[in-house]
Amino acid sequence: MPDSTNPIGVFDSGVGGLSVLRAMRALMPSENIVFFGDQAHVPYGPREMSQIRDFSAGITRFLLDEGAKLIVVACNTASAAALTHLRETFPQVKFVGMEPAVKPAAETTRTGVVGVLATPTTFQGALYASVVERFAGEVTLLTNTCDGLVQQIERGDLDGARTREILESALHPMLEKNIDTVVLACTHFPFVIPLIEQIVGRDVRVIDPAPSVAKQAQRLLDAGGGLNLSAGGKVQMFTSGEAAKVESLLPKLLGETGAVSRLEWDGETRLFRP
Ligand code: DGL
Repeated sequence: MPDSTNPIGVFDSGVGGLSVLRAMRALMPSENIVFFGDQAHVPYGPREMSQIRDFSAGITRFLLDEGAKLIVVACNTASAAALTHLRETFPQVKFVGMEPAVKPAAETTRTGVVGVLATPTTFQGALYASVVERFAGEVTLLTNTCDGLVQQIERGDLDGARTREILESALHPMLEKNIDTVVLACTHFPFVIPLIEQIVGRDVRVIDPAPSVAKQAQRLLDAGGGLNLSAGGKVQMFTSGEAAKVESLLPKLLGETGAVSRLEWDGETRLFRP
């Protein structure tokens, strides 16, 4: 049984998970956290589900070896492709995953038209079909995969011409159909909220699920007596990509500085320190 000072493991295909990490740091500053970004394989969005399952299981093994007491799958795509498989493969482990925020959108929309931005895999997964079936009701959902946006955000380009172009071509047709809510169902996308708000205007609500996911992680830990009550949580950061590049993005994306260490893949299921 892990100790309460053990870290929470958090992972994503890349820097998107930092939007969830940021919310977790704000809510639970005492928690120790181990974060892994799989930059060697980003983007996950266009990949086969079976491959994303293999990566997610490999990352989970690494995080458990680091002592993780809870794992946050801070990636909608990995949650869609792998969460059920992870829960079956590691039945003793507690997982928190991302679920497209269709429920709060459907509860508050006044026009009855909601935009959802996510990767192709997220839209294809059973999880999305299930939230639509359970919560969308009479609400019309307009979807877009914002191709190329994840890569722009990985470059740290949050407001350049190409980034704006991708978002405008996704959102303008939705605005014409009278959306009043946009659901961000990819953890990379909260980093472009300022640009999205410029495009959609103030009357459209933009839903970032990160704060609710952080709360869910806190609730689970609290229920199991696993909350860390000592002060000063530390974050340890790992990437399978270029450590210096991820380090350079931290102040902008996380609002913190820190060292990032590199891990390497051995095949598709095992990570090791080179
Ligand atoms: N951040 C991810 C998500 O939440 C995935 C982006 C990608 O790698 O395609 O879906």
